[in-house]
Amino acid sequence: MSQMTIEIKKTPHSRISEIDFDHLVFGEQFSDHMLEVRYSEGSWRDPLILPYGQIPMYPAVSTLHYGQAVFEGMKAFRYKDGKVNIFRLDKHYERFRRSCERVCIPEVPQDIFKEGMRALVDTDRSWVPGAKYKSLYIRPIVFASDQTLGLRASRNYRFYIICSPVGNYYAEGIKPIRLTTMPKYVRAVLGGVGDVKVPGNYAASLQPTMKAQQLGYTQVLWLDAIEHRYVEEVGSMNIFFVIDDILVTPPLNGSILPGITRNSVIELAKANGMTVDERPVTIDELADLHKTGKLKEIFGAGTAAVISPVGTIHHEEYQISIGSDEMGPVSKWFYENITGIQHGDVADPGGWCTLI
Ligand SMILES: Cc1ncc(COP(=O)(O)O)c(C=O)c1O
Repeated sequence: MSQMTIEIKKTPHSRISEIDFDHLVFGEQFSDHMLEVRYSEGSWRDPLILPYGQIPMYPAVSTLHYGQAVFEGMKAFRYKDGKVNIFRLDKHYERFRRSCERVCIPEVPQDIFKEGMRALVDTDRSWVPGAKYKSLYIRPIVFASDQTLGLRASRNYRFYIICSPVGNYYAEGIKPIRLTTMPKYVRAVLGGVGDVKVPGNYAASLQPTMKAQQLGYTQVLWLDAIEHRYVEEVGSMNIFFVIDDILVTPPLNGSILPGITRNSVIELAKANGMTVDERPVTIDELADLHKTGKLKEIFGAGTAAVISPVGTIHHEEYQISIGSDEMGPVSKWFYENITGIQHGDVADPGGWCTLI
């Protein structure tokens, strides 16, 4: 613990009684408080927890024009005994730090990120749902706050953390989702910003995702930007294939977001004797493996969706449909184990859950 002091101004009127915890819509309800920290004259100062609410800013604030911003997406869970934990806090901080570096945002010190988040989740502890498969989604966001239309790195920044109680990410729940490639579009290129969590990546994905949804698919399966053959990832998930009894996922080549859930799946698989192969996979190879019956399961892995079975991949003339209407056994094993660790039913492999 550092010597950092965090001022806490509590709301006199909690909104928690207005929330229907049985029907949570992802990212639509926010807990009572937020963390705010400002950066000026070369340092981050005065962390403050205050009631969740509007933040004042000018229309010339540079992040609105040039997108110099970074965010994270992580979760707090409740164990059966009532204790609350944050999942993989260190890994999320590390990715946040790397993302900031890529877009010239001064490093948010570890203690501000970690202790600030702990204090916020502690303040809004009653907002962490108790039911299994539900959680408190935590959204740290940092953005450039200079008032300028000049294209340069800002000199002032603001860092916020907000929280939102959530249930399932997809309307399908944990039923298999349908993916399609969109070969006319790309998500990320080598040397770009696909491997960090910056808002522009998501803005660029909206139009192709909307088109995919109009065609009846849940999400886009992104292919590489050069040959349009190598599978990369899904909108907010990394992708895994069970090929015979091997777990295969595309390698972190520089244009894929290094998912923390991806890392958890790989570590759990290895610790349980499963062979993991991080290697390039083409869409043609997938179609062949499907024809020969070697492609057993496909699933996505991400904080919001946890483990999400994929029932269909469409690509031009291919329609790869596998499994039934339920999660396959391997996907289910990861789903049960990861949610089990998060809710305290399965032993923590080592430092994954930070108790609050
Ligand atoms: C583009 C993209 N890929 C993958 C993921 C999965 O990453 P994580 O498991 O850290 O949530 C996310 C979600 O953050 C994402 O936005």
